[in-house]
Amino acid sequence: MQADQVRNIILVGFMASGKSSVGRALSRRIGWPRVDADEEIVSRAGRPIADIFRDSGEDAFRELERAVMRDICLENGRIIAAGGGSFVDEETRRTMLECGTVFYLSTRPETIHRRVTRGNPNAPARPLLAGGDPLERIKELLAQRAPAYSQAHHSIETDQLSPDQVAEAILNICGPGLSKST
Ligand code: S3P
Repeated sequence: MQADQVRNIILVGFMASGKSSVGRALSRRIGWPRVDADEEIVSRAGRPIADIFRDSGEDAFRELERAVMRDICLENGRIIAAGGGSFVDEETRRTMLECGTVFYLSTRPETIHRRVTRGNPNAPARPLLAGGDPLERIKELLAQRAPAYSQAHHSIETDQLSPDQVAEAILNICGPGLSKST
């Protein structure tokens, strides 16, 4: 791949797959600004994601996410960390695939479970994992989402890698010359 073909680097993957930390590592290395879609949603809605889910429901959240991703994708030269379910929505997925190179950070359910339950084994803060057995819910959601995630341009197994190593793998795929000046 030619570095000058990369308009944006877009990170997708299940919650806690490392999108934010890999985004920060990439941004440090190549100087592109990092945009976190969840943060944009919170700032636009003026309330936390858990409140949007609780008060307005998942459909309203996805609608907001679609609009936010459309706006983020108007720019070039960004590292975009997307929310875990955004790539499952057909329209948001199309927007992302058209406006950048999409990397799926693949992560095993056990790794995700360990990360989201750290210090709080029974009550993960993520609304979609609330209620029931979190590990089973993670497995179920991952299985449902696998066909969508498989449409990313590239997939990277992250379980054994640090955020810096994942960033390195992404930059190797993008090719040399990706920098602030491209
Ligand atoms: C979601 C993941 C969250 C957030 C929302 C829904 C999902 O983002 O967008 O809670 O559907 O998996 P992270 O992947 O950044 O946790």
